[in-house]
Amino acid sequence: MADASSFYITTPIFYVNDVPHIGHAYTEVAADVLARWHRQAGDDTWMLTGTDEHGQKILRTATANGVTPKEWADKLVAEAWQPLLATIDVRNDDFIRTTDERHERNVQKFLQKLYDDGHIYTGEYEGYYCVGCEEYKQQSELVEGTGEYEGQLVCAVHSKPVELLHEKNYFFRMSAFADRLLALYEERPDFVQPESARNEVLSFVRSGLADLSISRSTFDWGVEVPWDESHVVYVWFDALLNYITAVGYGQDEAEFARRWPAQHLVGKDILRFHAVIWPAMLMAAGLEVPRGVFGHGWLLVGGEKMSKSKLTGIAPEQITETFGSDAFRYYFLSAIHFGQDGSFSWEDLAARYQAELANGFGNLASRVVAMIIRYCDGFVPSAAERSAADHEIAAVERRATDASWSAIGRLAIHEAISSTWELVDALNGYLTVEEPWTLAKDPHQRARLETVLATAYHGLGTLAVLLSPVLPQATAKLWTALGASGAVHEQRIDRAHEWSVGERVTPLEALFPRVEVSA
Ligand code: ME8
Ligand code: MG
Repeated sequence: MADASSFYITTPIFYVNDVPHIGHAYTEVAADVLARWHRQAGDDTWMLTGTDEHGQKILRTATANGVTPKEWADKLVAEAWQPLLATIDVRNDDFIRTTDERHERNVQKFLQKLYDDGHIYTGEYEGYYCVGCEEYKQQSELVEGTGEYEGQLVCAVHSKPVELLHEKNYFFRMSAFADRLLALYEERPDFVQPESARNEVLSFVRSGLADLSISRSTFDWGVEVPWDESHVVYVWFDALLNYITAVGYGQDEAEFARRWPAQHLVGKDILRFHAVIWPAMLMAAGLEVPRGVFGHGWLLVGGEKMSKSKLTGIAPEQITETFGSDAFRYYFLSAIHFGQDGSFSWEDLAARYQAELANGFGNLASRVVAMIIRYCDGFVPSAAERSAADHEIAAVERRATDASWSAIGRLAIHEAISSTWELVDALNGYLTVEEPWTLAKDPHQRARLETVLATAYHGLGTLAVLLSPVLPQATAKLWTALGASGAVHEQRIDRAHEWSVGERVTPLEALFPRVEVSA
């Protein structure tokens, strides 16, 4: 059992058949915000992401491009998947590739243990396989094709034909774990989140669990089955194990005990793999199940899941080049209720950028800093006698701190941001009512002016700390301008309202400059 203050968060490891789009970036950013928040609360935090490089899908893409699958993966990882993390300002602690030696060796170790303990048998299977999903499909998951696939059965997710396969494979006795899985969902109602995801998983397992084919023998791009070199491990069985091979399973027991179990963040497309197959695998190996599985919603384009295969992907750089990485992070995490689907539009992004980031937060920060420079020569004023309105700001600071941290504990990222935004709104309202620019005209109001600016200044510092996981760049600039010591991302977020004020402010450039949108 990991220490209570250990927080290990993962993203899916993404297929390297193509470059990332904003759907992948969305998962990355959500995991990064949770990791940053926990780091700032003093938790022993670890964020893992990476790439899924084996299987037929990658093999076929590489072959079509005239290179080996490893060459293809190396290129995509170096040119697209690792650069993505810089584009959206993700501070992951590790990046695992399923072609890493640390991974392959320990996948074999895990599989051998299951084999030795009698969880694996030889069987035959015939079924429809979707290479896009890398999964055998049930009849109910297939639909009639249209257009060039007229008359064929296609996968409902990818709209591409499935292939009828008949193979002699190794099987994992997953059906034996149905009762234990149901007991797990019962005992830990938040094991699968959100509620809609939990219901889907429950009804799936209740309808009966089959055994799982876990090897393939018709191609060889994968981890070799340790007792039979004519088979490679099924790509999903291999991929899921990344979550433990990356933190020492099989080779560093202390590290493994320190990190595991993880909170998994995935899109709802791959919920069953994580909430059913993966815990069953862990149970079979006698390991602890995950801390939880959160299945977030889809970014939609024209009402459909944005996807590489349907060419509806928008590259993250298209957004960050105009709006910056902070705005990317803020937009997707605040505009979409975390757990539900969301439609992206340039108009909505531009409108929220202007209203919330530029006018709401950025302008507030610039105005307060500028007034302290103008009216107090840059010296941070101290509050004299406090009015009810001043006390109310302090109360909102405390509420925003507590409410956002509690929302993060429930993985309700959108709610954490909206709780914090109550402070943005309260401070803007406070300035409108107090009118420090009017107080400044009257020398008799000097003490009141200083109290108002000191109150607004304090609120801004609390905002900088609370928003730092979501807006790392803007809050770092603000922190510097506030003359506060240390780095903003090192301030305790669970006590944000207790930050130590500085002595002098320095000019602050516009945090969210006006943008010209041509789209
Ligand atoms: O499934 N909206 O990889 P993958 C939101 N390799 N999120 C989206 C999205 C969208 N439109 N499109 C993709 C795989 N995603 C496996 C995972 S894990 C052991 C192996 C995100 O490249 C979302 O996180 O198809 C989704 O679950 C993931 O990308 C699928 O990425
Ligand atoms: Mg996919």
